[in-house]
Amino acid sequence: MVSCQGKPVAIIFGALMLHLVSAQNAAPDITGHKRSENKNEGQKAVLYCKSVGYPHPIWTWRKLDNDLPMDIDNSSGRFFISNKDNYTELSILNLDISLDPGEYQCNATNSIGTTTMTSVLRVRSYLAPLWPLLGVLAEIIVLVLIIVIYEKRKKPDDVQDDDEPAGPMKTNSTNNHKDKNLRQRNTN
Ligand SMILES: *[C@@H]1O[C@H](CO)[C@@H](O)[C@H](O)[C@H]1NC(C)=O
Ligand SMILES: *[C@@H]1O[C@H](CO)[C@@H](O)[C@H](O)[C@H]1NC(C)=O
Ligand SMILES: *[C@@H]1O[C@H](CO)[C@@H](O)[C@H](O)[C@H]1NC(C)=O
Repeated sequence: MVSCQGKPVAIIFGALMLHLVSAQNAAPDITGHKRSENKNEGQKAVLYCKSVGYPHPIWTWRKLDNDLPMDIDNSSGRFFISNKDNYTELSILNLDISLDPGEYQCNATNSIGTTTMTSVLRVRSYLAPLWPLLGVLAEIIVLVLIIVIYEKRKKPDDVQDDDEPAGPMKTNSTNNHKDKNLRQRNTN
């Protein structure tokens, strides 16, 4: 009789122990996430978090508004969340430079604990990659304008210009001769 009652108890106890050992219940710990994402407007941003801990967490994404986590406003229908057991991914399509930049939080919560991680999303104007090119173009245009204006101004003065350099040049050369003579005298 004793052995008959003992068997089921031992089986239940053994199963409980096995469950505890294999499940390793623990609060979620986010072991990987994207710290920052830099994209141009109109592009797609992808943020993710992955965790260890069991039971697998319930994932939620929020956006910080004045340091307060707020539910993401999906009225534009551009936000997509894909959750696996220990992984979550937030995709934002067709990035909006005025609405989307900021800090996003993934929150992992299970029966034992909760944790969050923050990712920064930066959105640049799609003109941004063109700025250096536009700068070079502007410089070329300014240079061409300066040359054209200079050439136009130069023409009426051509006759004077031809005479003028000759004068100072001559005096310079005579001055140089004088200097040379002086130097030669000094060395002598
Ligand atoms: C996440 O879960 C998958 C399957 O559920 C597993 O293969 C993988 O090792 C887990 N990764 C981590 C970091 O726990
Ligand atoms: C956001 O809206 C789109 C379109 O209505 C929908 O398909 C998507 O599942 C929504 N995303 C979230 C995170 O609710
Ligand atoms: C994660 O979200 C849950 C449910 O909203 C909340 O109770 C919990 O405090 C959040 N965790 C952290 C670390 O902010």
